[in-house]
Order: sequence, then C-alpha cells, then structure tokens
Amino acid sequence: MKSTELTRETKILYAGSESKLPIENPETPPIYHSTANIIRDMDDYDVASTGGKYYYCRTANPNRDGVAEAVSYLEKGEQSLVCSSGMAAISSTLLSLIKPGDHILASRSIYGETIELFDNILKKFNVEVTYSDFTNLDNVQADLKPNTKIVYTEIIANPLIEVVDIGSLSKLAHRVGALVVVDSTFTTPFAIRPLEHGADIVIHSLTKYFGGHSDITAGSITSSNEMIKKIYSDYLLFGGCLDPNSSWLMLRSIRTMEMRVTKQFENAKKIAEALAKDPHVRYVNYPTLTNHPQHELAMKLMPKGCGAMLSFRVEDDRDKVNAFMHKLNLVKYLGTLGGYRTSIAHPATAFRNEFTPEKLKEMGMEEGLIRISAGAEAIEDLISDFKQALTVFDTV
Ligand SMILES: Cc1ncc(COP(=O)(O)O)c(C=O)c1O
Repeated sequence: MKSTELTRETKILYAGSESKLPIENPETPPIYHSTANIIRDMDDYDVASTGGKYYYCRTANPNRDGVAEAVSYLEKGEQSLVCSSGMAAISSTLLSLIKPGDHILASRSIYGETIELFDNILKKFNVEVTYSDFTNLDNVQADLKPNTKIVYTEIIANPLIEVVDIGSLSKLAHRVGALVVVDSTFTTPFAIRPLEHGADIVIHSLTKYFGGHSDITAGSITSSNEMIKKIYSDYLLFGGCLDPNSSWLMLRSIRTMEMRVTKQFENAKKIAEALAKDPHVRYVNYPTLTNHPQHELAMKLMPKGCGAMLSFRVEDDRDKVNAFMHKLNLVKYLGTLGGYRTSIAHPATAFRNEFTPEKLKEMGMEEGLIRISAGAEAIEDLISDFKQALTVFDTV
C-alpha cells in the first residue's frame, strides 16, 4: 500500500518523522528523545542488546552517554553511569555492592539523606554501619573491621568544612580489602580528583556544580570499567537513569563548568577572608584560612582551590539570623548549593530530623551557624551584601 493510500488515522502516526534535508554536523548535539530505536531483525537485536547499538533508552542513550564521557574525562575515571539524582547514584552504588552481613564505615559528616539511606534502608538488609570522625585517621583505623566492605566519605564535610585526608584513608581501607567510595559533590574535579588519591568510586550530585544553574537534578558514578560493569546491571534494574533532555542540558552546563567553578572558588576564598574580619562574625570555616584545623592538608590536597562552600557563625539568636536572611538583597536561602548565584543555608534547621538539638550542638551546628555556597557574582557586590546584612547583629 502506498503512503498516499493510507488512512488519515495511520498517516498522522508517520507524517513529519523524517527530515526533509540532510542534517550534517550540528554545532550542538541533538536531543535523542526516542525511548526506542527500530531493530531491523533478530540479528540486529543481538547486536543492539549486547551493547553494539542504541535500542532502548533506559539501557543506553546518546545524550546520557555524552554526559558520562564528560564526567569520566573530568574525574579521570574509565567509565561513568549517569543517574536521575545524586541519591540515585549513591543508592545504586551501595545497593549494588553490598550484601547482608557486610559492614560500612562512614564519615559522621556526610549528606543527611545518605545517613538516612544507611539507617533506614541498608540496615533493613542486615548491613552494619559505623559512623566515625574521618578527620582523625586513628578513629578510622580503630573502626575498620574484617567485614568492612565500603569506606564511605565526602572530602569536604558539611557544614563545618572539615577536610578528609583521602590518600591516607584509602590506604587504610585497602588494607582490609574495603572499597573507598567518595561523594565529591562539594569539591568537584576542579578541586580534587579522588580516584587519583586511591578512591575506588567517585559519586557526584550533578544537581550542584556540574549542572550549576539550579535547573537539573542528576547524579553520577565514576570508576574502572570493571567496577562500572558490576554496578551497571543493578543500575538498570533500579531504573534511576537520567532522561535525554536533562542529559542534554547537563552536557551544556559542563562546557562552562570550569569557568563558573573557578570563579566560585575564588569568591568563596574572598568571602571567607572578608567575613573573618567582620566584628559580627565569631569564626569562619574555610580551608584556605590559616586557622582552619586542616589548612595544611587542604592546601596539599586542593592547591587549585578548596571548593565554594564555607560556613560562619554569628550570634545564636534565631530572630536575628532570620532578620539577617531577610536583610540580604542578593543572596538567597536555598535548599541546594552549587548554583551560579550565591546562596545560604541553615545547617541546624536542615539536620534537625537527623539529630537531636544536643547532638547538633555537639557537632558544631549551632543556631548561629550559616552555610554559604559561593556563586559567580562580582565579589565586591557579595561582600557589601553580607556586610550590610550583618548589621542586624549590632549590639546597641
Ligand atoms: C553532598 C551531597 N551528596 C548528595 C546529595 C544528593 O543529591 P541529589 O539531591 O541530586 O539527589 C546532596 C544534595 O544536596 C549533597 O549535598
């Protein structure tokens, strides 16, 4: 039957599907929205289903593969998986590698929902988790067990901006045959590439610095070909892959990541220096400041910049902290970080579901602690915004 003889109901299912003119070398890659590609016959299916062709979007998609290639390049890993969020990356990795009876040794200063994943999900599968202060490697040494399968950490710990000696930590973990999994969201590959320091797997919430514009939710897992192959089969079943549209946006964001992030690192350093001199500020947590407890380690690990996250403490007065938030003109309170505009967050509020008020205080999350994610604005505008808002703490 010729297409002209097709009924309208059928014709409309095909009309406009093919391009009228040849399309060669577009300056930006197209978005491959199609969830499936036509398979010619069973021989073709054999090629497609063994990784030789794209045929189903969850299995593989060119836009997602583009992001994976860029992340692997930046992290100097062999391969990456790109996920629908940072939490999808973290849960896919852990659920894939762990079995009942295993032990995980985790830093006590990691993302709150990662702690919930450990406590609410992994413990259901009889996985034991110990939290330790990773800034003191003697603690790590003491808490490692013969069945420790994973040592899990972030390099810059939220919200006190503590620094973990990832090289020494990896050596200790490998002695008992544990894998080192690093969530490097706060640091980015422009501050440090954990795989070069002995880590086995590096994870990112790409939602943050990679996306950089607070408009994409995504995550990544980077490691050796062998490790990614192991995780991939479970990742497929969990189904947390990134969609083509978000993948396209993500690759576009990664193109300018170095420019953004380099400026953000510089701004963080300058904000830290300015706040440290402000009479309303009790102290500032940022590793380039010489009074930071791991200043020397940080300079050695991250000579190109220590990330764009810092925190500072003012008077522990909820009303005044709220007034400070209202008085800021440029800087806004956000439940995220890593965007191109500077934002703040309040750790004691963010962690109130995970820890008791006493525990929060013990962990340094006082009412007056404010976290900053430095953006790419002109530094003088940022400093003057913080300074004018800090006047709410004037004592009259
Ligand atoms: C360090 C860190 N890891 C993981 C996540 C989770 O990422 P997502 O929100 O993309 O799932 C976050 C989110 O804030 C984070 O800060």
